[in-house]
This record gives sequence, C-alpha cells and structure tokens, in this order.
Amino acid sequence: MRTIAIVNQKGGSGKTTTAVNLAATLAEAGKKVLLVDLDPQASASLWYGFKEMGKALYAVMTEDAKLESAIEKSSIDNLDIVPSSPLLAGVEKALSNEVASETILKHKFFKIPNKPWDYLLIDCPPTLGILSLNALTTANEVLVPVEAHVMALHGLVQLLKTISTVKQRLNPDLEIAGILACRVDNRTKHSQEVLSQLRSRFEGKVYQSVIRENIRLAEAPLHLKPITSYATSCNGAQDYRNLAKELIGQEKKATLPSS
Ligand SMILES: Nc1ncnc2c1ncn2[C@@H]1O[C@H](COP(=O)(O)OP(=O)(O)OP(=O)(O)O)[C@@H](O)[C@H]1O
Ligand SMILES: [Mg+2]
Repeated sequence: MRTIAIVNQKGGSGKTTTAVNLAATLAEAGKKVLLVDLDPQASASLWYGFKEMGKALYAVMTEDAKLESAIEKSSIDNLDIVPSSPLLAGVEKALSNEVASETILKHKFFKIPNKPWDYLLIDCPPTLGILSLNALTTANEVLVPVEAHVMALHGLVQLLKTISTVKQRLNPDLEIAGILACRVDNRTKHSQEVLSQLRSRFEGKVYQSVIRENIRLAEAPLHLKPITSYATSCNGAQDYRNLAKELIGQEKKATLPSS
C-alpha cells in the first residue's frame, strides 16, 4: 500500500483539486483508495458532498476514537473518505500539551486491521502545523502540487527543506513521490518558462504529467462530483488520468530489483 501526503504550505496551489481527482482516477483505474481530508477548510469533503460533518476526525486526533470510526463510503466505487470539519482547526490547541502529537494519525492508521486500500491520499492544509506534520509522519511519500507561476517556485525550496527535516527527525521512510505542475496554461510563454525552470531546478523530481488550466476542474466541486463523473473527457479528467497512470507506473518501478 502506498501512503501519499499532498502538501504545499502555499495556499491555492492545487492540493485539494489533486487529492480529489487523483483519488477518483486511481479508483477508476481499479485501485482502492482512502482519502483523508486533514484540512479544517474541508474542501475535499465538501467536494464529495460531505457537509457539516460532526466531530469524528477531531475525536480521532484528540481523544480515544479509532480512525475506522471516521471512515465513510464515497459516492464513487473504490473510494473511501475520512471527512474533515472546521473543528479540526482546534486540534493544534487541544494537543498543545500532548507528547508526540505529530504521530497520532500514524498510530491510529497502523492500528486499522486488514487495510483494504492500495493508496492512502492525505489532503493537507496550507500550513506546516501539527495537522500537516501528522500527514508527513503517516505517509511515506509526498506529492507536491505547484501552480505554474514564478511566485509559486519560491516557497518550494523551503518546503523541500522542511520535508527533509521531517525525514531526519520523525519519518526516515519519507520520500518525494513527485512535484506536480498544476494550472499550466500552454498558451502563455510564462507558464512554459516556469515549467522548464521547474524541470531543470528539480531534475528527476517533476512528474511528466502536468495538469492544465481547465475550467471544468474549478466547476466540479459545485456539482459535488470528481472530474471523472462531472466532465469525463475534458482535459482536466485526462490530465488526472495521466497522473494516475504515472503513479501506478512508479509502483512497478518500486518493485523492480535494483541493479
Ligand atoms: N487545473 C486547474 N484549472 C483551473 N482551476 C484550478 C485548477 N487547479 C486548481 N484550480 C482552482 O484553483 C483554486 C485553488 O485550488 P485548490 O483548492 O485545489 O488549492 P489548494 O492548494 O487545495 O488550496 P488551499 O491551500 O486553500 O487548501 C481553486 O479555486 C481551484 O478550483
Ligand atoms: Mg485545499
């Protein structure tokens, strides 16, 4: 099973759009997926139609509740979801006197018997606080969506440093699965330049798949459907299918004996 945190401390970089639609395209490809929404904004949960969720995930993070108690079936096959709620904004404060509070989710996740999933995807908030740290200790891989915009590249070096510190101190298994260029506009030179800069500065770390700017991706949450159900053949759906294929390809690579 692969465990992937979708992280970028920069707001609006495409984390939730990627979490929701990568979960859907992996599920469409026959993979069993658990999507955990760790963002108090609850955007991924709302996108899948989970409104006004109670305190299930909050209780998992701050009380004795098991993670199983917070898992819900989503509207699509092969996809389960742990919805968030605005209550999660209080986790940082509630855990301020707790020892090892950055590994709570990890321990609760490992305690689930017979995990049926091929992929765990965790959508993170745009801060590197206790919730994102919980994601980075639970996951073994990080997927970093970046907006194809010069400003977006500035925070990336800092983020990679933070990930390397978490690896050293909290989770030696943590690796960068890949950097994903989002909102790429092939019509502008700027977008092209940023993409080639990204590929040269972070060589070997950037996914071949890119997510183009696509209005259908912005509309889909209003219809409470992932892009595969809302507009199944649009560019956005194709791009996230390509990304799912590339991730599944990484799986094969990971199992090849190293020479
Ligand atoms: N490929 C795309 N084409 C068009 N719009 C997009 C695309 N990707 C993301 N968006 C839009 O950009 C905005 C930010 O995207 P998203 O919510 O996925 O970012 P985020 O990193 O999760 O934000 P936050 O940090 O607030 O959680 C949203 O309005 C979304 O609809
Ligand atoms: Mg988000």
